Amino acid sequence: MALRNLIFTAAAALFAAKAGAVDNGLAITPQMGWDNWNALGCDVSEDLLLQTAELIVDYGLKDLGYHYVVLDDCWSKGRNASNNNSLIADSSKFPNGMAAVADRLHELGLGFGMYSDAGKYTCGGYAGSLGYETVDANTFASWGVDYLKYDNCYNMGQAGNQQISEARYAKMANALNATGRPILYSLCNWGEDYPWNWGSTIANSWRISGDVYDNWDTYDSRCPCTGADAWNCGLPGFHCSILNIANKASFIVSKAQPGAWNDLDMLEVGNGAMTDAEYVAHFSLWAAVKSPLIMGNDIRTIAPADLSILSNAAVIAVNQDPSGSSAGRRWLYGINGSDPFVGPSIQLWSGSLKSTTGGTYSDMVVLLINGADETDPKAQRKQVKMSWEVRDLWANRMSTDEAAAIIAASTATGNVTTGYNATEVGTGRYNVTATSYAAGLAANDTLLLGNVTTTVQPSGTVTATVDPHGAAMFRLRAVPTAAVKKRDEL
Ligand code: GLA
Repeated sequence: MALRNLIFTAAAALFAAKAGAVDNGLAITPQMGWDNWNALGCDVSEDLLLQTAELIVDYGLKDLGYHYVVLDDCWSKGRNASNNNSLIADSSKFPNGMAAVADRLHELGLGFGMYSDAGKYTCGGYAGSLGYETVDANTFASWGVDYLKYDNCYNMGQAGNQQISEARYAKMANALNATGRPILYSLCNWGEDYPWNWGSTIANSWRISGDVYDNWDTYDSRCPCTGADAWNCGLPGFHCSILNIANKASFIVSKAQPGAWNDLDMLEVGNGAMTDAEYVAHFSLWAAVKSPLIMGNDIRTIAPADLSILSNAAVIAVNQDPSGSSAGRRWLYGINGSDPFVGPSIQLWSGSLKSTTGGTYSDMVVLLINGADETDPKAQRKQVKMSWEVRDLWANRMSTDEAAAIIAASTATGNVTTGYNATEVGTGRYNVTATSYAAGLAANDTLLLGNVTTTVQPSGTVTATVDPHGAAMFRLRAVPTAAVKKRDEL
């Protein structure tokens, strides 16, 4: 008995030690926020971050769960040899220093995200953290940083297999943990060396691909693994389209779990080069696959239609679902006989969500993507075995007029605090600050459940007409009959 207890205790200690590497209690659901890189690159400043933060509050985005304001590359000015070689913030861009930025973000109820690189330099050529993990982690903690995006440029040849990359990234994980401050750890090694195999032991998320760009499906050889080969893609790259990244994600969805997520890269919604339908599909996919939802547009110039996409609480509730299980791709067909990985395709993704009907049957998310240039109502369907209530998650999308009114009502044109909250203007906005997504779902809040469109009967089909390069997204809720056993329906 004593021996058995000892073995249990030893096993528990081992587990605790292992879990300790990433057990920071963060990203239990995928992290949400904003990062400047996609829209603004190196054009960073205190003004940009704080003005964006004010707008995130004013536009109701904070209330929807967008929490972290992440500063990307190009913020530093070398190291201070007379202060332990610690990183120096560029005072022309951040005149009050980083701690002041963190303080202001915290006052607004937001988190501060910081960027560095597991290499000698960052991708923009600034000082990297390789060899300085402890001093940099301590600096970030002392500034009040809540999140670290950790890049992969100039890694001095410390890549090429999983063990080498993991060891390099683990150094920063350990240094962050040793600070005692919970800091969400977001690996940005572009899918190199298969981070989905080892990332969950040290980090909260890992990029699965080279950099996204504002494009639906254009082939670009700078982004490798374009087709069926994506199941085994350990190469980095850039200029990756939305469908390229979705394809890569389709093979590794099982690697996502609470606290550790596949990161499909920052959102491009609002950056201007895709259609509204493409942005809807992009946002829906990222949400269903449980990617972090990090807005990547310039919030200061956001268009109403884009605010309305980013504000869809029913879609975000899928992303933030308490069961933390990624949707997977169930089928992919080429249009008119084309290779589905190269030519236009249609695809169906689905996955289980926490039950909102009492627990026996999971809810389901069903996402239909039409990559074709024409509307194709025929092929997007699937037979079901029991009855399901079908709820359209885009039916209640905020109108452009309402989004425009929210934007117009903000006076945060500088570092101005208005105290204004979009929930006062927007009718029926969801407020996660008051009620978590988990609680809202449990209470069957209609803002999260979408609109009932139909109930599909046993042997019936779920059919939708989907815009070209667009998506339809549904929550299915079981209407159980006594004879039907729980099964994997879709
Ligand atoms: C890499 C990352 C991007 C961005 C830039 C900054 O390309 O993948 O997300 O951080 O570096 O230089």
